[in-house]
Amino acid sequence: MSAQTPILDIKNLSVHFRVYGGVLKVLDGIDFHVFPGEKVGLVGETGCGKTTTMKAILRVLPTPPAVIPNGEILFKGQNVLKMSERKLLDMRGQGISMIFQDPTSALNPVFTIGQQLEAVIRHASPQNHRLSRSAIEQRARLALREVALADPDRLLNSYPIQLSGGMRQRVCIGMALSTDPELLIADEPGTALDVTIQDQVLRLLQRLVDEKQKSVILITHTLGIVRQTTDRVYVMYAGNMVEVAPTKRLFAKPAHPYTQGLMAAVPRLSGGGISEGIPGRIPSYMNPPVGCRFHTRCPYAMPVCERLKPPVFTVDDEAHQVACFLYDAPDKVQAYKQEQVAV
Ligand SMILES: Nc1ncnc2c1ncn2[C@@H]1O[C@H](COP(=O)(O)OP(=O)(O)OP(=O)(O)O)[C@@H](O)[C@H]1O
Ligand code: SF4
Ligand SMILES: [Mg+2]
Repeated sequence: MSAQTPILDIKNLSVHFRVYGGVLKVLDGIDFHVFPGEKVGLVGETGCGKTTTMKAILRVLPTPPAVIPNGEILFKGQNVLKMSERKLLDMRGQGISMIFQDPTSALNPVFTIGQQLEAVIRHASPQNHRLSRSAIEQRARLALREVALADPDRLLNSYPIQLSGGMRQRVCIGMALSTDPELLIADEPGTALDVTIQDQVLRLLQRLVDEKQKSVILITHTLGIVRQTTDRVYVMYAGNMVEVAPTKRLFAKPAHPYTQGLMAAVPRLSGGGISEGIPGRIPSYMNPPVGCRFHTRCPYAMPVCERLKPPVFTVDDEAHQVACFLYDAPDKVQAYKQEQVAV
């Protein structure tokens, strides 16, 4: 696979949820890709569809209520949406691992850490099926040492409830990395923990992925971490990818009005959304706004924004793209603005 062929390539993906009273049109034709060895950040307010996107990649969305009316998810060239159960298991075993926000729900309380870790390692590949019990135990001890957990023998015999939140999150990271996945998805790792432990967990994660040269998707509300950790960032708003750029460029020159608002709201992001950065809330997915989904909150909205969904425009070069009419050709932007005056 050449360096320029994405390991993960999502094209025009929509995800709806059929619920009582109607259809929630959550993901709205998103494009997203990750190159081998690349660390990609995904940011956006709560409820904008980040976890839904990741669950779609792993095909773990509950169906019903989820339906996928259109789109492709290519992992190493194969469409995940059309994979057989067997291929899916292989993909989840060796190809992609996910670390969830809440370490408690990711571990089963009735099995010891050793039983759970060993099961994950054994099912990771056909070769591992054939490993002896002691070889698997050895791998499990190594996985715990890698995430800086002391006394692995005692831990292997412990139940999740006997560990602190920070230790459980480390176990989850160890578990996710123990299968040597090619792509690691970290969905707000450690958010359920206190800030110091969260920081330690993120540093650990960063060190491990650097050492192992993994592809990573990192979802977090902490923009500082995205800035330090990732190569490229996608910004999501109400089920649309509204901007993507190399990390440095996005922070130096955010183009989309929503991204600009996010940046202005940094200190408050992890609390109750970004209400102090951009007034208003994410719209309902039952009847999302026609045109640009952000137009109800955008300080620069023009009449065209209420009629048409903005296509993607290039800012400076191909690496920086933004879905906003302000970045159309200058004469067109002029016409859009005049239309506003005429109304
Ligand atoms: N199983 C489901 N049934 C119905 N609606 C769902 C389901 N899963 C997700 N949604 C809806 O999809 C929308 C996006 O949710 P999602 O969890 O993907 O957001 P998020 O960006 O991960 O938010 P957060 O930052 O809070 O984790 C929400 O409105 C949510 O209610
Ligand atoms: S397309 Fe229009 S409403 Fe949407 S972000 Fe751009 S200016 Fe604002
Ligand atoms: Mg989420």
